[in-house]
Amino acid sequence: YSTRPPVTHFSEEEEMFRDMVSKFADEVIAPKVREMDEAEQMDKTIIQDMFDNGLMGIETPEEFGGAGANFTSAIIVVEELAKVDPSVSVMNDVHNTLVNTCIRSWGSDALRNKYLPQLAAQKVGSFALSEPSSGSDAFAMKSRATKTDDGYILNGSKMWITNAAEAELFIVFANLDPSKGYKGITAFVVEKDMGVQIAKKEQKLGIRASSTCVLNFEDVFIPKENLLGEEGKGYKIAIECLNEGRIGIAAQMLGLAGGAFKKATGYAFNDRKQFGQYIGEFQGMQHQIGQAATEIEAARLLVYNAARLKEAGVPFTKEAAMAKLYASQVAGNVASKAVEWMGGVGFTREETLEKFFRDSKIGAIYEGTSNIQLQTIAKIIQKESA
Ligand code: CAA
Ligand code: FAD
Repeated sequence: YSTRPPVTHFSEEEEMFRDMVSKFADEVIAPKVREMDEAEQMDKTIIQDMFDNGLMGIETPEEFGGAGANFTSAIIVVEELAKVDPSVSVMNDVHNTLVNTCIRSWGSDALRNKYLPQLAAQKVGSFALSEPSSGSDAFAMKSRATKTDDGYILNGSKMWITNAAEAELFIVFANLDPSKGYKGITAFVVEKDMGVQIAKKEQKLGIRASSTCVLNFEDVFIPKENLLGEEGKGYKIAIECLNEGRIGIAAQMLGLAGGAFKKATGYAFNDRKQFGQYIGEFQGMQHQIGQAATEIEAARLLVYNAARLKEAGVPFTKEAAMAKLYASQVAGNVASKAVEWMGGVGFTREETLEKFFRDSKIGAIYEGTSNIQLQTIAKIIQKESA
């Protein structure tokens, strides 16, 4: 079990980030949430506003046009955005904790110099690992790369790719030498104009404003300088970035739970009366509210503890998996209760509660299903017990 105490406070800079993003989410995003969900489309001005407010290169060093902030700040941003809209939140999360992180941590100087400024200023990024026949079993991918004198030729299909409709840069994983199994997997930075075909856009239960698409690659030429890391190290790049990304998804679920809780408790304590008193004053309601608040607090401690462990440069894979697993469960429970607490009103599309409820389901699926998080936790405990 974790040997470090959980984090209960934030620095002044982190608090400033939280206040800034919270204000941004309330003023810029909130008025458009319902419209974007109905249209199943992200508002382009919101994306531009995220770039203009420095939210698309949070950990990117200032010399590359980023905010040069720490990992916890990136997590705070995801949480605050999710309190208002989990779709905008996941766009930001994938862009920062997966795409920027992959290039910052594994890219050559040339890749960092070229792409980090673009990703901080104007180009949305996507992370393309999953395929039609390999989701949980991600390393069994069928996409293939073939080496040429001056680069690689990419063939294959990716499925479920977040941000694909808006993205201009893709981190793509393909196997260069299947005889080596997953040790043939290699990562590439692929520009849309190199030949990425955006095929089917999925219609989903939740996070409907977030695009999720199939990508096809037919003899796409990738110049050799766009190799990310080393040949055969793609599996490591994928899973190590995902370990960080999972804390981001945990923060998305934490924010979602917090957003649903705030809305429904405001209604229960201040708006809605039945039998002559506020519904929040009934003991039956208070017990549920107390339980939900406790679950949110526990999820919060798991999320920020995992983030601080990552920042401290100590192993955090198990804690990241725990945070994602638990925060997803809490988001599901709290969003469901919040709909009930608002009665009929909570069930309608007049309010955002039904949307939080729909959006909460994805937490147990992407960036590794809940079963995969459990398996990850158990495998580490097995190693620790050896
Ligand atoms: N951290 C670091 N390394 C890990 C790891 C982890 N969490 N899990 C596995 N590995 C390493 C192992 O150490 C091993 O490497 P070495 O041989 O170098 O030691 C290698 O990976 C293979 O390990 P296993 O045989 O145990 O793994 P597996 O093949 O059974 O499964 C896995 C590995 C594919 C990573 C699986 O555990 C997993 O996480 N599946 C889920 C995939 C996933 O998260 N996809 C997300 C797509 S992106 C996304 O979803 C974004 C979004 O929605 C917004
Ligand atoms: P499967 O792997 O087929 O799993 C189906 C069920 O079987 C699950 O309940 C699972 O837990 C269970 N199962 C599978 N293996 C095991 C096991 N070993 N033990 C116990 N149970 C098991 N991928 C990307 O690469 N990039 C993205 O940007 C991205 N965004 C996504 C956005 C959305 C909205 C969605 C829905 C998915 C996204 N994904 C993305 C893909 C996502 O990571 C996969 O959907 C996820 O990893 C599960 O894979 P699968 O859908 O193939 O399900």
